[in-house]
Amino acid sequence: MFERKRTILLSALVLGLAAGCAVLGDGTYRERYPDAQIDPFKGVEGDVGFSDTIQYWRDEAALQRHAGLADKPAEVWKLNWKHMDLDRIDLHPGHLAVDEGQALVKKLAARNPAFLTCLGEGSADLKGKAAAYPKFDEALGRIVTVEARIEHCAKSVLKEDLSQGKPPNTRISVYFKSLSAGMPIKVDLSDENVMEAYRRGEELFYRKTGQLNFACASCHVPGSIMGHKLRGETPTTPFGDAAHYPTYRTPVGALESIQERFARCHGQMRTQGLKPGDPAYADLEVFVTVLSNGYPVSVPSAR
Ligand code: HEC
Repeated sequence: MFERKRTILLSALVLGLAAGCAVLGDGTYRERYPDAQIDPFKGVEGDVGFSDTIQYWRDEAALQRHAGLADKPAEVWKLNWKHMDLDRIDLHPGHLAVDEGQALVKKLAARNPAFLTCLGEGSADLKGKAAAYPKFDEALGRIVTVEARIEHCAKSVLKEDLSQGKPPNTRISVYFKSLSAGMPIKVDLSDENVMEAYRRGEELFYRKTGQLNFACASCHVPGSIMGHKLRGETPTTPFGDAAHYPTYRTPVGALESIQERFARCHGQMRTQGLKPGDPAYADLEVFVTVLSNGYPVSVPSAR
């Protein structure tokens, strides 16, 4: 009898897993979008066989060959908006944000030079450093994004509140990242703490939530809404996205960090968004940044 009960329980579990649902630790029932089988070790090249749009935006030559797509409203999404990165379009306020961020760092470092060496983890030279973020910080015992580093250094060195998702933090972030512009992103997957964060972020990417029971994947993998218009916007492949954040959003005239974008997507899927800096968003940022590994840091950008 006991055996039989166990078999029934086990088969229910197996069936549940096969149908892609899970009961979380707090007892909440969640469904899961089918796995897109992304290989983290391929980095940005994982888009080959995924959306395959990378052929249009992989590098400068590809973008130039396919520049005509920018004039086709139904197809422009295939460029993954990469034609709007760096200096590829006219001067825009994203470029000014770099200068503003630089001026702010200068001002804060004048108050205490330790602010700069905190950002640079022991050196005042920030060149190339942003390309290795997010990373696991041994001393802090957690995943640290560029924006988390800025918040931490402002707080610990200057007793200043530079919360993530707020304009001063995002301006410094875009300046910090601009010092790595053109350098390939290299999130360190050999660090097991980073790999674990990737797996947690991946789980969040597929987990359905909210009133619409959508996952990130419901809009951002092939065969989903990806490539189809949704209230004026067309969701794209998640490969290569993290490279151009923070970005300047022309429709609203403001800089936006990647975690603010997550919150906005959460809003679109009628899920309560989280605050930038939430550990779940740090995990999601690890996930999407790994999908940009090998692609050059591409700030400033506009969207
Ligand atoms: C209801 C559909 C929908 C869902 C669900 C959704 N997004 Fe989005 N997302 C969009 C649209 C539309 C855009 C804007 C077009 C684009 O660039 O992809 C976007 C943009 C993005 C971008 C920026 C792309 C760029 O090039 O600037 C990121 C990153 C992103 N989403 C991540 C996520 C994550 C992570 C989730 C889950 C928490 C999620 N999205 C859920 C529709 C969605």
